[in-house]
Amino acid sequence: VPAAAADLDRTDPLASLRDRFILPEGVTYLDGNSLGALPVGVAERVNEAITRDWGVGLIRSWNDAGWYPAPARVGAMLAPIVGADPAHKSVVVCDSTSVDLFKALHAACSVRPSGRRVLIAESDNFPTNAYIAASVAAAYGLELRAVASDQVVAAVERAGSDVAAVSLTHVNYRTGRQHDMIAVTDQVHAAGALVLWDLCHSAGVYPVALDQLDVDFAVGCTYKFLNGGPGSPAFLYVNRRWIDAVSHPLQGWFGHRAPFEFDSSFEAAPGIQRMLTGTSPQLGLIALEAALAAYDGVDINAVRAKGEALTDRFISLVDETLGDGSAGAADHDNLVSVVSPRQASERGSQVSLSHPNAYAVMQALIERGVIGDFRAPDILRFGFQPLYVRFSDVDHAVGVLAEVITTRAWDQPRFHARKSVT
Ligand SMILES: Cc1ncc(COP(=O)(O)O)c(C=O)c1O
Repeated sequence: VPAAAADLDRTDPLASLRDRFILPEGVTYLDGNSLGALPVGVAERVNEAITRDWGVGLIRSWNDAGWYPAPARVGAMLAPIVGADPAHKSVVVCDSTSVDLFKALHAACSVRPSGRRVLIAESDNFPTNAYIAASVAAAYGLELRAVASDQVVAAVERAGSDVAAVSLTHVNYRTGRQHDMIAVTDQVHAAGALVLWDLCHSAGVYPVALDQLDVDFAVGCTYKFLNGGPGSPAFLYVNRRWIDAVSHPLQGWFGHRAPFEFDSSFEAAPGIQRMLTGTSPQLGLIALEAALAAYDGVDINAVRAKGEALTDRFISLVDETLGDGSAGAADHDNLVSVVSPRQASERGSQVSLSHPNAYAVMQALIERGVIGDFRAPDILRFGFQPLYVRFSDVDHAVGVLAEVITTRAWDQPRFHARKSVT
């Protein structure tokens, strides 16, 4: 007999962390992998930055309110969450993930072992990763080999000493499948190539060990599991082995050795500062800095353990109520399949289900206060941020999902009308 959700919530060592977030009444939030919830204290801190630092401090705040050093300061705060030693100064927060990916991949290519001509990427990765891999390969005249994520190991093996760099996403956005980051990093290094990891779907919920694995480059979103707020700037990690050697084409004044000397020619700053380009978005950085307080004293291993338990429970309840052989499953429209790996160690803090009318099903769930998202063509995606998701939320969400599917509540015109953001 599975444990009751209330008992699991009562004995959950992370249960009190939910108080670090402001969550609306009547909402079961399973979309922290798209936009994290609002942490306590962020609104006050941003308001203070606007009214005091901007309103009163005005231009003086670039010096007096710590605006200028914010990209590296917030990078150092975030570093331990992804296994980077803040003392190494290898993380900076700036720009969007797409832009950071562009810069990091260029940086990787700028220090690739000479004579190597193959860039390996994933054909089923998030589209921005595919677009950027193609543009960087073209810029360097490299051959892009975009292979399915389960073919990466074989592709690296096949290309051997031709591989210059391998650009991968740790957890696939659509399926939630997770690479074995230790094994793949080792394999790429054994081939003499450089590895870049996109941590969009694992930073904050998985004990990523960038320094320990000697990862070369990494990037990731901060508005998903790290709760930085809509469009909060991304993070970029460069192994300290490379930092003073790399270059990238977006060489703007914030990456210059001395921006306020206004030199007419570019000279890269020493260290991680060279990865910056232009004026940093202060309000986004300040919101993220305040949001990261939600991780104070938090053991990411415990977060991961709870994430595995939450997603395991979600999958078994879905199997029980909607899986093959359960009531109604013979009807095509009731067929829900688990797309994410069933083995917890092979998936991120996410469960994806497929359903032929997934868009409408998700709209009906959202109307009932259970918020996940839809990924074309047929994926219902649920993200589990263990800092605020409870076991009782899992039970509630599956109960509502079963009701929506077995009663066909989703089959109403208003649930079929596509909005611009899904
Ligand atoms: C794997 C991955 N990379 C990159 C991005 C997009 O990043 P941005 O919009 O911050 O450029 C996403 C967004 O969901 C993503 O899932």
